[in-house]
Amino acid sequence: MDMQPIAAREGNHNLKDYEKARQSFDWEDVKKEFSWYETGKVNAAYETIDRHAENPAKKDQTALIYSSPDREETLTFHELKTMSNKFANVLKKHHVQKGDRVFLFMPRSPEFYASFFGILKVGAIAGPLFEAFMEQAVRDRLDDSGASMLITTPELLERVPQEELPELKKIVLVGFNEESDERYIDYFHEMEQASEEFEIEWVDLEDGMLLHYTSGSTGKPKGVYHVHNAMIQHYATGNWVLDLKEDDIYWCTADPGWVTGTSYGIFAPWLNGVTNVIRGGRFTADSWYETIAKNNVTVWYTAPTALRKLVSAGEQTAKKYDLSSLRHVLSVGEPLNPEVITWGVKAFDLRIHDTWWMTETGAMLIVNLPDMDIRPGSMGKPIPGVEAAIIDNEGNELPPNQMGNLAIKQGWPSMMRAIWQNPGKYESYFINGWYVSGDSAYKDEDGYFWFQGRLDDVINTSGERVGPFEVESKLIEHPAVSEAGVIGKPDPERGEIIKAFITLNEGYEASDELVEDIRKFVKTGLSAHAAPREIEVKDTIPKTRSGKIMRRLLKSWELGLPTGDTSTLEE
Ligand code: WT7
Repeated sequence: MDMQPIAAREGNHNLKDYEKARQSFDWEDVKKEFSWYETGKVNAAYETIDRHAENPAKKDQTALIYSSPDREETLTFHELKTMSNKFANVLKKHHVQKGDRVFLFMPRSPEFYASFFGILKVGAIAGPLFEAFMEQAVRDRLDDSGASMLITTPELLERVPQEELPELKKIVLVGFNEESDERYIDYFHEMEQASEEFEIEWVDLEDGMLLHYTSGSTGKPKGVYHVHNAMIQHYATGNWVLDLKEDDIYWCTADPGWVTGTSYGIFAPWLNGVTNVIRGGRFTADSWYETIAKNNVTVWYTAPTALRKLVSAGEQTAKKYDLSSLRHVLSVGEPLNPEVITWGVKAFDLRIHDTWWMTETGAMLIVNLPDMDIRPGSMGKPIPGVEAAIIDNEGNELPPNQMGNLAIKQGWPSMMRAIWQNPGKYESYFINGWYVSGDSAYKDEDGYFWFQGRLDDVINTSGERVGPFEVESKLIEHPAVSEAGVIGKPDPERGEIIKAFITLNEGYEASDELVEDIRKFVKTGLSAHAAPREIEVKDTIPKTRSGKIMRRLLKSWELGLPTGDTSTLEE
């Protein structure tokens, strides 16, 4: 779809002259804005929370406005500092040390954020897990990371297969706890007794801070390892791209189980000292508009899948609410349809700014800045300090308008530093000094990047990344399923839905009941978002001679496309 560019609006934007900023840019200048640049004392929790709590002018500012269907609460920077100090003391009492992996498996809540910063304050590595994960997903991640401690709720505890996790020594329960085993720690009880004073564990910029598990096209989910140094880019992009000012009321809709919910739900907003709205509970168009109207949200970071649902709810739903507080709206996670941008101009009288990045990149890389013309359908241009290009499979740069691998020149601050215990996997991301994203794209003559699709079999459903292997593995655990091949099928609202092709074991007949049972099996065993919406029973699944499922062929069949090269197909 060819559309007219949408010009930037007048405004007091933090980053004004993009071209000039790029030319004279030096990450060293951004570093100077952190207290550690002078003191040498590094810890992202300090920069994010305590620094404001120690500033008399800011300590009583509301840092967090929390609301869920059954709870509302606010915390100041001072209160968040105190709570996280207390939790750091609890961790210390239970012998958590620098470098230990401490996982969080619970819904968004004030306790989540206090625990998260407590973990960083003792120098441990935080591993947030999405609350909808079921047993298999939880086990794979805790097992791979060797987590020694988990913070969860009594309700979610039943999804934690403790007997299979020998390295998991302690479990902190947030909520009523009837367990008496010494493995369990009662959050509220221990917090009551803990001191409010804590001496932060100062770390190195290259020390571990976060593990986020994400999916590739093969194998189990992998642990993407981020270090404290990432805060430099969280801060800078919060300033340039989110355009945050200290009196902003900011809302990022992502769950901290995904990287958007940490980089832009925690670090970027609070490094920039704004009031951060956190909303739990399920999505409805009305509840989302209400969140904006009630809290006077000024900057809003969300995802195409949510925006498309708002479009479906119609302009009349938007018109019921006073959304005039909104100044700046942004999107991430999947292609932002030009139609949605057009609708945004009508519904909010604002442009929606697309941003592109990945779990592995730790922060935004290609963006639409508030001061830049938007070309609807384009992800924008690389931020200052980042070089992006389209390369071929040998790592050579391609000229404008040619499609290829979207790649980033190594060396930006928030880049992952490892795949947890898998150096080979980490190495496989790089060629000739370029980080290869796995996305295909092209760059136009003016330097705007245009997303074309994934080059591998990774599925993007409602903005959530799902590895087909993980779903296939779960499917074949069902007694009726012999083989499984899983693909992403285009869907107007969700981007893609998960479609599974299966063959049945002898003695099983295809039926609606069986298919539903198999779907439920994945939903309750792995997670709801990974459960196939469509399951088709086949006589055979196409495989290569070496036994690999040919997902590409399944996809071509599904979409009625030419099947291409099938020379490796098994007889
Ligand atoms: C993949 C990364 C960290 C951001 C949230 C998702 C897709 C991301 C866009 C965009 C088109 C996008 C890519 C990317 N993606 N942003 N603006 N336009 N596609 O992080 O789960 O690690 O997924 O999401 O395919 O590789 P993620």
